[in-house]
Amino acid sequence: MKKCLQNIIVKNKKIILRVDYNVPVINGKIIDDSKIKLTLDTIYYLLSENCKIILLSHFGKVRNNQDKLKYSLEPIANHLKMLLNKEDVYFSKENYGIEVINRVNQMLPKEILVLENTRFMDVPNKLESNSDAQLSEFWASLGDIFVNDAFGCAHRTHASNYGISKYIPSCIGFLMQKELGMLNRLVLHPIHPFTVIMGGAKIDDKLELMENLLPKCDHLLCGGGIANSCLQALGFNIGESLATDNDEVTNKIKQLLLKYKNKFILPLDCVVGSTYDANFAQYKLIDKVLDNDIILDIGTRTLQKYANIIMNSETIFVNGTVGAYENVKFANGTKELLGLLKKSDAIVVIGGGDASSSVNNLGYNNAFTYVSSGGGATLEYIAKEHLKALDSIDEEEQAVEVLDL
Ligand code: 3PG
Repeated sequence: MKKCLQNIIVKNKKIILRVDYNVPVINGKIIDDSKIKLTLDTIYYLLSENCKIILLSHFGKVRNNQDKLKYSLEPIANHLKMLLNKEDVYFSKENYGIEVINRVNQMLPKEILVLENTRFMDVPNKLESNSDAQLSEFWASLGDIFVNDAFGCAHRTHASNYGISKYIPSCIGFLMQKELGMLNRLVLHPIHPFTVIMGGAKIDDKLELMENLLPKCDHLLCGGGIANSCLQALGFNIGESLATDNDEVTNKIKQLLLKYKNKFILPLDCVVGSTYDANFAQYKLIDKVLDNDIILDIGTRTLQKYANIIMNSETIFVNGTVGAYENVKFANGTKELLGLLKKSDAIVVIGGGDASSSVNNLGYNNAFTYVSSGGGATLEYIAKEHLKALDSIDEEEQAVEVLDL
């Protein structure tokens, strides 16, 4: 484990705290603030240690000045202030330069200063995303210690989440520790029988994840574009369904299907839509799919087969959804599967943006052992057992207990 916050002396220090407050906002309203709430333990701890907190986060993709109008961190800083119920949470419209230095120099203990979206420094020269040395050093110069609690973007090496740690003593916050500890213990070293359920649109990005999980798991239940690509590789007609069109990926899938033929479980039946009619939905056996069909959900026989495996598993890791659940006609598979997972006695870990959103959207909050807050970062950690953003943070000398926050 990397150096942990509780094992480094922070009392009375100026802390640069990097969080991931890249939260969904619609019409100016934060529609899910869980990523913010998950960082509060780290913030409370730093406040209890009489620290000054300079808080950094990215928000959205900022490619031009127009994007800056959409992605100011100010409403998110206000939301944090409300959650903490604390007057001295301030926002700085600048995140670079003399004004920031002056403002930081005036800070009192226990104050929080949220700097403007770090990705504003991407316009025009991508200084944040390219981890520009001068920018990293500037942000590092504002504090004594860097605390990285931004698990959700730890697969990126930006100035604010990676560059800073090259210049000042650094450690990981409580959320980062919890995520790494949980994924490590529950998914990378699981109790068997261990079942992985993989869905979602694209297999190309998930091949590495699949390759790392196949030797570890007892069953891989497939849905969505993952299943379609496997069926296609086996010679099934999948009509117009979403699947890889990359020959190299298809060859790799064929090799995996052969090597792990006893672990792969593919759909027996499905619900298809049609390229011709947006209202069309029809149940089909998997070998009856026609050229204009689009496979959009798993069918009842598949669910039954998956149910038997789920009920006999000790650990289950879910990534992606097995159907296009946003459309009610194709939501049954995803809903039923979540229901089965809730009923099972297994340790259930939900990882990855889509699967986590389906849990919230379909009303299964708090139903599972662990729902990871990361999307890309969760997948990267499970695939590679490594997160690039943490490379410049030292390792702990002794084993650390996983925090159960
Ligand atoms: C996320 O929301 O997945 C993280 O904040 C990373 O965001 P990004 O994909 O824009 O880097």
